[in-house]
Amino acid sequence: MISVKGNRLFVGEVAASGLARQFGTPLYVYDEETIRSKVRALLQNIPCRPLKLYYAAKANTNLAILKVIKDEGGEFVGIDAVSPGEIEMALKAGFRPEQIIFTSTSVTDEEMRFAVAKKVLVNCDSLSQLERYGKLNPSSKVCFRVNPDVGAGHHSHVITGGPDSKFGIWAGEIGKAFEIAAKHNLKIIGIHEHIGSGILETGKFLDAMKVLLAIISKNREKLGDLEFVDFGGGIGVPYKLDQKPIDMNVFGSAVSKLFSDFCSSFGRQLAMVIEPGRFLVAESGVLLCTVNTIKQTPKHKFVGVDTGFNHLIRPMAYGSYHPILAVETCESNKKEKIAVCGNICESGDVFTRNESGIADRKLPKIKEGDVLAILVAGAYGFSMASTYNTRPRPAEVLVSNGKARVIRERESMAHVIYGV
Ligand code: LLP
Repeated sequence: MISVKGNRLFVGEVAASGLARQFGTPLYVYDEETIRSKVRALLQNIPCRPLKLYYAAKANTNLAILKVIKDEGGEFVGIDAVSPGEIEMALKAGFRPEQIIFTSTSVTDEEMRFAVAKKVLVNCDSLSQLERYGKLNPSSKVCFRVNPDVGAGHHSHVITGGPDSKFGIWAGEIGKAFEIAAKHNLKIIGIHEHIGSGILETGKFLDAMKVLLAIISKNREKLGDLEFVDFGGGIGVPYKLDQKPIDMNVFGSAVSKLFSDFCSSFGRQLAMVIEPGRFLVAESGVLLCTVNTIKQTPKHKFVGVDTGFNHLIRPMAYGSYHPILAVETCESNKKEKIAVCGNICESGDVFTRNESGIADRKLPKIKEGDVLAILVAGAYGFSMASTYNTRPRPAEVLVSNGKARVIRERESMAHVIYGV
């Protein structure tokens, strides 16, 4: 758990201030138990079986995190990999090839050959890819992704269904996908969709499920080999106090009922696959940083820290809100309006912002040297980090059973400069 006790922030049972002292900042810290509890929440609330949770590794690719998810989910979990690198990472974490699906976009033949050599199922994102896949691996198993013309998500950049989305085979073109598959004697064992990311209502997810299931029903005679239907990821988490988490019980019952009813009419029980990324890891992580500069303009009091959008790009990329706390004074009656900014040489490098620009936050009075925690940073934090401005990426630490250990060393200056 990430919790506040006696006005101080704790990760697991370890004080965040102590972690900052011990490992230095900027630092990503994750709580193992939070990740485990999120895996359990899905397994317990989605009664439908067979059920597979293909963790969307792009959310957080740290090997230790993949291993935690594997350990907690056992045979129920697999990996949604979007690149040869993620396939390799999943295999290194101990996932078997048949527990991995390669769902990428604008894929090269070479990347597909890599997946095939590793015995990983390829999920084709376009008619072009399906054709090329059929040529390079005829008479094999395949999955393809449908764009169901239903999209949802916390920002337009992450909505992946509808005519503005580059993903999947357009629902109206599915007939051609079956022709290509038949030509190359491909066995369609899975059909996939993913409508977007950061969805906090069940309705859109169900709408998209219905579209995909209707496509399957309509083409059932061509889908004799079908083993699973993959409805993608996208389950959101609250970032703001006034956001309600998705009711997992309602979600789990609704998706299970819809799918079970469908399977009855289809004539056999298929496996349901979902691909949670953010849901499993977002709330487990914090980015710790240290305040080094405080300055004032006529409009804002800027509190400058030793990290920036190179390490957490979500506020800059999507105007995303991340809660921020001073780890030793989480609450106070005396608050002031501040803008927390990073050390990157761009004016957009402000963590307290929304889509239209800087949005000051009320925080307890902060002084130089204080450690701040940027919360809900476990998903799409480190995995989207860069070395922009020639600044190394932070270390990552995992807290398990009250103990903290480094799960990725702080990147060295030499690595940034020479790549070794
Ligand atoms: N499956 C597929 C095919 C995906 O493309 C994604 C995410 C997921 C599953 C997992 O989605 P999730 O459960 O995490 O919402 N960087 C953005 C999010 C990008 C999501 C990309 N695809 C952010 O920080 O909000």
